[in-house]
Amino acid sequence: MEYQNKIIDESVQGTALELSHELNAEAKKLYLESYGCQMNFSDSEVVASILERDGYQTTRNIDDADVILLNTCSIRENAEQRVRNRLTEFKIKKDRNPQLVVGILGCMAERLKKNLLDEEKLVDLIAGPDAYRDLPNLIEEVGSGQKAANVLLSRDETYADISPVRLDQKGISAFVTITRGCDNMCSFCVVPFTRGRERSRDPQTIVSECKHLFDSGYREVTLLGQNVDSYRWNITAKGEIKNPELPTTNFAQLMEMVALVSPELRVRFSTSHPKDMTDEVLTMMAKYPNICPYIHLPVQSGNSDVLYRMNRGYSREWYIDRIEAIKRIIPGCAISTDIITGFCGETDQEHKDTLSLMDIVQYDFAYMFKYSERPKTLAERRFKDDVSEEIKAQRLNEIIDKQLAHSLASNQRLLGTIQEVLIEGESKRSNSHLCGRTPSNVMVVFPKTDAKKGSYVQVKITECTSATLKGEIV
Ligand code: SAH
Ligand code: SF4
Ligand code: F3S
Repeated sequence: MEYQNKIIDESVQGTALELSHELNAEAKKLYLESYGCQMNFSDSEVVASILERDGYQTTRNIDDADVILLNTCSIRENAEQRVRNRLTEFKIKKDRNPQLVVGILGCMAERLKKNLLDEEKLVDLIAGPDAYRDLPNLIEEVGSGQKAANVLLSRDETYADISPVRLDQKGISAFVTITRGCDNMCSFCVVPFTRGRERSRDPQTIVSECKHLFDSGYREVTLLGQNVDSYRWNITAKGEIKNPELPTTNFAQLMEMVALVSPELRVRFSTSHPKDMTDEVLTMMAKYPNICPYIHLPVQSGNSDVLYRMNRGYSREWYIDRIEAIKRIIPGCAISTDIITGFCGETDQEHKDTLSLMDIVQYDFAYMFKYSERPKTLAERRFKDDVSEEIKAQRLNEIIDKQLAHSLASNQRLLGTIQEVLIEGESKRSNSHLCGRTPSNVMVVFPKTDAKKGSYVQVKITECTSATLKGEIV
């Protein structure tokens, strides 16, 4: 089932990216495939931009490529396995064309470093998330017959000055990175090791990128960071002002600056962290109708002892308090989450606490995963991965079943309502239908009229499944 695949694991599906402009037969061709989170997709747009300046054009046809780059994810073992399988598929291409350059970018490059060159003899080049400006040099090094690597992490690289080449063909919705890295050290998570220290991007560059997107026809931006609530400009981690002569910006203020670009621009963001999400952010969301009433607030587990072992920095009670604040300040706000089943030492009762929390919150949507032990993380060093694969799978199924019921109920509540939908284009399944999202982020499919992509329409919801809505323009 499409929905199940989607919620179980996004990180294992690769997506090939291509520019929308005309192909130039002379240009060198870059084939870029992205795995993992939205930040990786956003980074691929930075990579395309850097290499475009160096004379490369992206192609969707891998057989045309002079350079193949995979932007990889390490979050779970299966995400890495998918990339390894993909690499072996490239072997025939390499045998046929020895000039072909194959490179690994992103989190696997950073995690495995030069080992990747030895381990996978097919790889010519590796570049970590903070080394993309160096890609033209690295490709040149490979051209002169060497293997090339740069996996240096930086304390201040944000690619703030690089205007990303937009690889999404629809031209309506764009990702805008606001922070890089993560300082949170959740015990299960590899991200602090692969992405380095947290740093925030200059707010002026964020706002001007959003203005530029709006002027080019975009109508939705999603502000991205591993923990958007800890965005801060001109403020230290301890909350002190760095330069008193300059303004400071926190996440709530940044969101307001972006919302003011135009009331016609939808503003979304991901990911919020329960320990840092403030009422100030919620109040700002309530103040601006164009900040979408949708929050992705990963809980991971509904049991305080498990949360403590996960080093998440909040308890079940704290999380429920944040949910209550959302429901109080933004009535009707959609809420989604991430859940891990079978974390180290998770008992049956602790698992039941996650199920009961789901009943309390009634999430509209969730991404659900089996715990996958990652090398070097706190959990790997401190705890035993002692929940059997079978139990992990069984618990995951229980959680998925509950979520499907909740998602269906959430969509059923929308039946008969009129929703404002931003048209993204034709429906994937039918060229006589259009599709777009509600403010709460649910996909709606409806019969075509002369309404244009990028415009807002009022749609009456008439049917639903647990994944999508159907309706008619009114
Ligand atoms: N910064 C975000 C999460 C980014 S990773 C946050 O803190 O919420 C996306 C999701 O992958 C996490 O929320 C978690 O549910 C899942 N995940 C991370 N590490 C994992 C692991 N080792 N095994 C299984 N799932 C994991
Ligand atoms: Fe990983 Fe935790 Fe950082 Fe999210 S907040 S990226 S789960 S360490
Ligand atoms: Fe994966 Fe790295 Fe994102 S590990 S989830 S691509 S930050």
